[in-house]
Order: sequence, then C-alpha cells, then structure tokens
Amino acid sequence: MNKIINILKEQKSIPIDQFINIALYDKKFGYYMKKNPFGKKGDFITSPLISNLFGEMIAIWCIAFWEHLEKPKKFLLVELGPGDGTLCKDLLNTFKKFKHFYSCLEIKLLEKSNKFRKIQKTKIKNIKVKWIKKINELNYGPIIFLGNEFFDSLAIKQIYNKKGSFFERYVTLSKNKKIKFLYKKAKKNLIKNIKNLNLINKGSIIEYPIEAIDYLEIIAKKIKRYNGGLLTLDYGYMQSKNQDTLQSVKNHQYLNILSQPGNSDITSHINYKLFFEILKKNNLEIEKLATQSEFLQRLGIIERANILSKKISFKAKADMFYRLKKLLHSEEMGSLFKVLFAKTKNTKFSLGF
Ligand SMILES: C[S@@+](CC[C@H](N)C(=O)[O-])C[C@H]1O[C@@H](n2cnc3c(N)ncnc32)[C@H](O)[C@@H]1O
Repeated sequence: MNKIINILKEQKSIPIDQFINIALYDKKFGYYMKKNPFGKKGDFITSPLISNLFGEMIAIWCIAFWEHLEKPKKFLLVELGPGDGTLCKDLLNTFKKFKHFYSCLEIKLLEKSNKFRKIQKTKIKNIKVKWIKKINELNYGPIIFLGNEFFDSLAIKQIYNKKGSFFERYVTLSKNKKIKFLYKKAKKNLIKNIKNLNLINKGSIIEYPIEAIDYLEIIAKKIKRYNGGLLTLDYGYMQSKNQDTLQSVKNHQYLNILSQPGNSDITSHINYKLFFEILKKNNLEIEKLATQSEFLQRLGIIERANILSKKISFKAKADMFYRLKKLLHSEEMGSLFKVLFAKTKNTKFSLGF
C-alpha cells in the first residue's frame, strides 16, 4: 500500500492500467510477485486446481488438434500465464501416454511473475518445458497458444463517456491520503483508438484492454505465419455493453479494487465481441464461443469421470463429482467461463465447439 501511496505522492496521479500493473506486478509490492494466491487457503481458485480432469480434457483437445494438422514433427504448445503450473503438469501427465505426440511436442511457458516462475520450476521438471520472457521470441510452429484466466488478468484502461466527452480514469490521493479515482480529459490518441475499435456504445464506462489487444495481434501473426490456434478460457461477455467490470478478490470475497492494492487480485471481464473483431481483422477464423461446461462435456469429461469412478472409493468418487459440478454447473464456473478458439481460415478443426 505504501508503495502506491509514495508513487501517488510523487506523480500525483496515474492511469488505472498503470495502477493495476503496480498492484499486481511491482517487483516487491505486487500481489503476484510475493504470494501464491491459489487454492482454498489462498484468495481464489482456478479450474486446473479444481480437478485434474480439466487438464486431461485440454490435453486430449491438443492431441486431436495435432492429429488434425497431420501430426507435424515439431509442435509447440505455449501456455500463457501458467500460474502455479498445475495445468501444465496435468497436461504433461496425459501427453506422456501418447508417445508419438509426445515425441513431437515442445512446451514454452510465458510468465511475468518471478514468484510464479519459481513455483512452476519446482513443480514441472521436464526437459520439454522452457520458459520465455516475450511472445515475440517464438519462431517456429505450428503453435497452440493456451491461456486459462490469462487475458482477464491483464491491465486495462477505463474511459468515462460523459455525453460524448471522454475522460480517462486515473487514481490519486484524497486529502486524508486515501486512494481515490480521478477523471482526466482523455488524450486525442486514446479517443481515436476507442473510436477505431468501435468501443463507444451505450453506457458510461468504456473498457479498453490495451495489453490484451497487443497480445492478440502478436498471437494472430504467429498463427498466420506458423499455423496452429489460440484456445483461451476466461470470464466475459459477448453483447455490447459499456460497464465497469474491474473486480478485486481476497479470501474468496469481492472487494473494492482501491482498498487493498498489492494484497488482492484485480481482474476484468473479457469483451469477446472486441476480441473477435481484432482476431478477424488479423485474418483468423473464430469458432462460436462455447461455455466451459459445453466445451468440457463435448470432450467427454463426464464419460471419463464415470470410467474413473469404477476404480475408486466412494469417498474419492463423491469428491470427484463434487469438483466436476464446480467446473460444469451454470451457477458455478460452467457458464460464466467462456472458451474461445481462433485458427487460420483453412483449418477445419472444431472439436468442443
Ligand atoms: C489469474 S492467473 C491464472 C493462472 C493459471 N493459468 C490458472 O488458471 O491457474 C494469471 C497468470 O497470468 C500471468 N500473467 C499476467 N500477465 C502476464 C503477462 N503480461 N505475461 C506473462 N504472464 C502474465 C500471471 O502471473 C499468472 O500466472
């Protein structure tokens, strides 16, 4: 907290995307740089940590996609923001059972947080797995880009539309040194960008996912050049709506994003309509969004659980189906989470969609 207050004392105000980046990634103070927030005892839980069947289904999807691409001898899987490494570990457990696929596979992990990179390196000890600092480094393919809750953790800008005048949201200090929002006239370039992206609709808060757009453009270029696809799972919406989706979570409870920067997670919802437009502009084709529940069920998660349940105790079986419900039920993560798949125009693969 002191760090942000000191920065604000010095700079008076900073745009909200910069605030998010400091709150999450400042070397000493950043939330993702100092603790492992995942799991029951942490602040939130993600799908890979709920059940290893999640990773198993995604592994099967990757293998089927590789087969569709006619089993290329060299094949790259890039995980975006691997968190505590659980998904990658579960993927490898399944991949190893498919010898031919496994012999063609290489994995690269893109991770911004030093803390998470360390956790990943202790969990995943496999010569096929390498860490990269920049997505630009990738220079062969085909590539599958895979991200679970990656895009919703990237910093965004917010712009307030007051009857056609635009004001960017900043944070500043109040007289009693509390962090508060401040609105400053938006710069011309920013207004031009949000107009070009068709972000001006009804509703007063415009969210501009400035970092996600950069990633989508680079990823699209890599897929065009080397073939492959992008598979992401995040929470988000498809309809045009301009609203404030920034949220903060600590101890599995929502709180104001300004109340505990550095000690709470900050995320936003994905504007899928915008993501589709950007990917299409970059000549990719996108499958109709599937919910997490639809996607996992089309891959056979329930059938797989039924097979496994024959070999385990009643207690283990109850636990497995309890976890499955968390992943699939519409009141849990089943409908809120959406699955996006983008690929080149001549790729006819659509498993799970
Ligand atoms: C919400 S966590 C999700 C972790 C994991 N995928 C899971 O589902 O459990 C977001 C992850 O993305 C990473 N991340 C966020 N921004 C990043 C960036 N610009 N480059 C690389 N990694 C980033 C975070 O450090 C973290 O590992």
